[in-house]
Amino acid sequence: MDFQELITARRSVRKYDSPIGHEALEAILRQAQQAPSWKNQQTSRCYVVESAESLDELRVSALPEFNRNSSAHAALIVTTFVRNIVGFANGSPVNEIGNGWGAYDLGLHDAYLILAAKNAGYDTLIMGIRDAGVLRAKLGIPENEEIMSVIAVGKGNEAPSVKPRKGLDETVRFL
Ligand SMILES: Cc1cc2nc3c(=O)[nH]c(=O)nc-3n(C[C@H](O)[C@H](O)[C@H](O)COP(=O)(O)O)c2cc1C
Repeated sequence: MDFQELITARRSVRKYDSPIGHEALEAILRQAQQAPSWKNQQTSRCYVVESAESLDELRVSALPEFNRNSSAHAALIVTTFVRNIVGFANGSPVNEIGNGWGAYDLGLHDAYLILAAKNAGYDTLIMGIRDAGVLRAKLGIPENEEIMSVIAVGKGNEAPSVKPRKGLDETVRFL
């Protein structure tokens, strides 16, 4: 898909027919790994939930009802980053952002991931409203990882309208 077409076509989809398959998942996860990261440290991590049973259980226990419904029939990718590496030197933050740099890198990774998914014919929904404690316990996520989003990936069954974006005059200053 042409890049302009791809970024226009990618929308948050809240209705799915079926989850993305395993091979396609591996392909988009590999493409997401091409995202840049601080000193190429690659601290982004993904926990991929594919089996119908685990998906049902996780949706019910870790997502509020609206996100549970929106992600029905999709696979789920829980994304985390390893703390205290990116943006740190000799164990101390190199500037005021601290672990925000790990979140920054993960955001880049996830941006690549959702665009790669769309390019492969799948839709996505990033969900920031989720129960991190439940995700950690159920998926065995180590304590040194910060749990960020849950991303639904599957064959979408709706074509959401393009949500308006602010004008550059509001968000950018050319100096
Ligand atoms: C970090 C982040 C967290 C989000 N959390 C949720 C969420 O919990 N539930 C939801 O329905 N949408 C969530 N969204 C989707 C946004 O609402 C959506 O991206 C935004 O409205 C723009 O729409 P678009 O993605 O279709 O362009 C989240 C998006 C981001 C980037």
